Amino acid sequence: MAIERTLSIIKPDAVAKNAIGEIIARFEKAGLKVVAAKMLHLSEEKAGGFYAEHKERPFFKDLVGFMTSGPVVVQVLEGEDAIARNRDLMGATNPKDAAPGTIRADFAETIDANAVHGSDSPASAEREVAYFFSADELCPR
Ligand code: TYD
Ligand code: MG
Repeated sequence: MAIERTLSIIKPDAVAKNAIGEIIARFEKAGLKVVAAKMLHLSEEKAGGFYAEHKERPFFKDLVGFMTSGPVVVQVLEGEDAIARNRDLMGATNPKDAAPGTIRADFAETIDANAVHGSDSPASAEREVAYFFSADELCPR
């Protein structure tokens, strides 16, 4: 298995619940390392550009509204199979379908405020990491 990097976002609902530490602990306990991190309050433009692939979807406007409703914590996670491993830790998009013990099952109630984002492929990970971090903000460990 390859060492990968993936973009993770702790969304405004989870930040508001004071769950930043508990969520990062799950990544670390699963063997993923934080190699970059920052807290941001996204603008509409930044959030809309991040979710550009969903621009034509009916939920896009609400998604941007939610992602700009409060601060987020954006991180780059590194480790073996990091992209799929993070998605496994997150659980299904809709918390109602998320397996017990996953982040979304434990910290979210609804699909529109579902606690975390994670890149879904090597191509999206590359784009999303570069969307938030310059090369000199990544700290190899
Ligand atoms: P998506 O990329 O499909 O899910 P994931 O975050 O698991 O990769 O959708 C992006 C976000 O858009 C999702 O986390 C929450 C929101 N969303 C809705 O609000 N309603 C929906 O029906 C879907 C599919 C997504
Ligand atoms: Mg997605």
